[in-house]
Amino acid sequence: MTDLTCLFLGQPLANPLMNASGVCCRTTTELDTLASSAAAAMVTKSCTLEPRTGNPEPRYSSLPLGSINSMGLPNEGYQYYLDYAERFDHERKLLFLSISGLTLDDNVEMIAAIREAVNPALLEVNLSCPNVPGKPQTGYDFEAMDELLDEVNDAYKRPFGVKLPPYFDISHFDAAAEVLNRYPRLAFVTCINSVGNGLVIDPDTESVVIKPKDGFGGLGGAYVLPTALANVNAFYRRCPDKQIIGCGGVQSGTEAFLHLLAGASLVQIGTALYEEGPAVFDRVLGELTAIMASKGYTSIDAFRGKLKTL
Ligand code: DOR
Repeated sequence: MTDLTCLFLGQPLANPLMNASGVCCRTTTELDTLASSAAAAMVTKSCTLEPRTGNPEPRYSSLPLGSINSMGLPNEGYQYYLDYAERFDHERKLLFLSISGLTLDDNVEMIAAIREAVNPALLEVNLSCPNVPGKPQTGYDFEAMDELLDEVNDAYKRPFGVKLPPYFDISHFDAAAEVLNRYPRLAFVTCINSVGNGLVIDPDTESVVIKPKDGFGGLGGAYVLPTALANVNAFYRRCPDKQIIGCGGVQSGTEAFLHLLAGASLVQIGTALYEEGPAVFDRVLGELTAIMASKGYTSIDAFRGKLKTL
């Protein structure tokens, strides 16, 4: 009786779950694992023009309430993911291709090639990697973000989306949404990327826990749930013509339910997928179904975006 189906950019999906970019999606083996999972959609690792090995290890650490990472965009280069997308059975799952060019020109070059693909995935432009030393997050520079979106919009004639960093001030929600709303073809917004440049210190060793950037890295997992929900809801309210993909702090059906309630159309799982593997999707779907049934909701549309205020 409980129906988990949803629509994303007009495409019907069996359920709203997918991976967060970066987790289980760097190699074709990992991507095939996702393709066989219960998630109805999946996204590739954010890629660059050329392959990258990323930052020195250790560059990921599991924490009591989540994770810290400074991977530094290790990836196989965009052509690898484009080839995967060309071979992919798009009837089976919705596939997103995430790009994170190191320069504006790199993004434009990748987009020009992706545009020519016969069987393209949905393009997501990552404006928010916090972990490449010396490269600030584009999403925190509204002028640079506008310039990039202008180029992407011109170069890529199809609907596309962006992955945003978390914002923490109402004026920044307003300013970012104002830029995004200038681009009607920008059809979806994924929020949030990791909360950048946290510092985790082990009191026993008196040391940081990851090597790159003297220990500074992006936080994920339970630490970031309220920030993720705030960003999902802020952009859901401000960008009525766009769909929102929620990411951050989803460990169980409860957090997936909260993201949907805040307005997300799809919900990503990152840290919990890393910790638990793709069986996490079956568990979270079962828990979400149970929550909906206990509340008498027979469809996601019955509650999606219907967050109450006091
Ligand atoms: O937390 C993140 N880590 N966000 C990104 O966008 C990229 C990734 C990495 O490779 O460092």
